[in-house]
Amino acid sequence: MAKHRIAWLPGDGIGKDVLDATKIVLDKIKLDAEYIHGDVGWEFWCKEGDPLPTRTIDLMKMTDAAMFGAITSKPKTVADKELDKAMQNKGYIYRSPIVRMRQLFDLYICKRPCRAYPGNPLNYKEDIDFVIFRENTEDLYSGVEFYPIPKEMLKVRGMERVSPEAAISIKVNTPKGCRRIIEAAFDFASKHKRKKVTCVHKANVVRATDGLFLEIFYDIAKSYSAIEHGDANVDSLCQWLLKRPHDYDVLVAPNLYGDIISDLCAQMTGGLGFGSSGNIGIDYALFEPTHGSAPKYAGMYKVNPIATILAAKMMLEWLGETKSAIRVEEAIAAIITEGKVRTYDMGGNATSLEMAEAIADKC
Ligand code: NAI
Ligand code: MG
Repeated sequence: MAKHRIAWLPGDGIGKDVLDATKIVLDKIKLDAEYIHGDVGWEFWCKEGDPLPTRTIDLMKMTDAAMFGAITSKPKTVADKELDKAMQNKGYIYRSPIVRMRQLFDLYICKRPCRAYPGNPLNYKEDIDFVIFRENTEDLYSGVEFYPIPKEMLKVRGMERVSPEAAISIKVNTPKGCRRIIEAAFDFASKHKRKKVTCVHKANVVRATDGLFLEIFYDIAKSYSAIEHGDANVDSLCQWLLKRPHDYDVLVAPNLYGDIISDLCAQMTGGLGFGSSGNIGIDYALFEPTHGSAPKYAGMYKVNPIATILAAKMMLEWLGETKSAIRVEEAIAAIITEGKVRTYDMGGNATSLEMAEAIADKC
């Protein structure tokens, strides 16, 4: 039996392209793994009324980790719109498979490294190296939403200022949820000799939830005296990240702010073709590029597979294959610096598979 069992979930659109490319690299390093295909995505919503069928969840439960491509979550073509409507008319409700997987497996850490590899023509500035720890299960993404607002709720103190016609999405931050993501950020900083952890919030306005997050941050920081720490309002942080990126290192944030700064930081270090994401829990983890299914490029093997190969590198770390993880990252860095093989986003014309083969050759 193989040492590792990996759920292989290409999903929709370019999900298959980037996972096929990633497999070339994993095969080259001879990872002792069994890859088990799982159904997920738009096709299964249209056929079965569930984009994440139960059989896929069961399959994931039998594996050590998952590699996920991308899913299409909104219909674009007329035919897709009709299929979507037909499923809804039958009473099925579309729920995002990725959000569900994060919640089902309690993948509370969303780790997003953003490194400007030297020589990448898409770098905003050289020497940027952020790692974002985004809380992944609660906050404004808890799914506690009301529209219309139940009458009983309108009677609660404080609600008198809310119009009965309003829609409400509730931001839920628990002490446990705050604590475990902040601890993960400090733990990572400590193990990897990172110099600073910054807490991202808006506690001056969003006092209850972000106030709790900030309070717990300063409490935990006391146990890590060797690591510099500080906090920043999410809005002002966005301009400081652009102005003085070298002042930042590890960033820890509640779900929504983490989502937003992830895209900003990814864009500063190469864009969607370089943004990788590790959804990590205690017993399970799922790795993915941060981009979507880019339907217009589906099956063309044109897009940059580096984001997904970087996600696979994080998976290797999770599986304890540290040496292989280093080999893969060094190979990616070398290919970027050489600049001979570049996909379209980097100004070249290499295919996804040619890029993966070039990286595999360096491994
Ligand atoms: P997208 O991320 O799929 O693509 C936007 C554009 O970014 C593409 O047209 C392409 O120009 C570029 N791009 C994306 N990946 C790239 C890569 N690896 N290399 C080079 N260029 C790349 O976002 P879009 O078009 O807004 O969404 C398409 C579908 O994906 C939607 O149905 C959306 O809901 C879904 N989506 C899924 C996500 C996921 O599975 N985690 C995340 C984001 C969107
Ligand atoms: Mg996002």
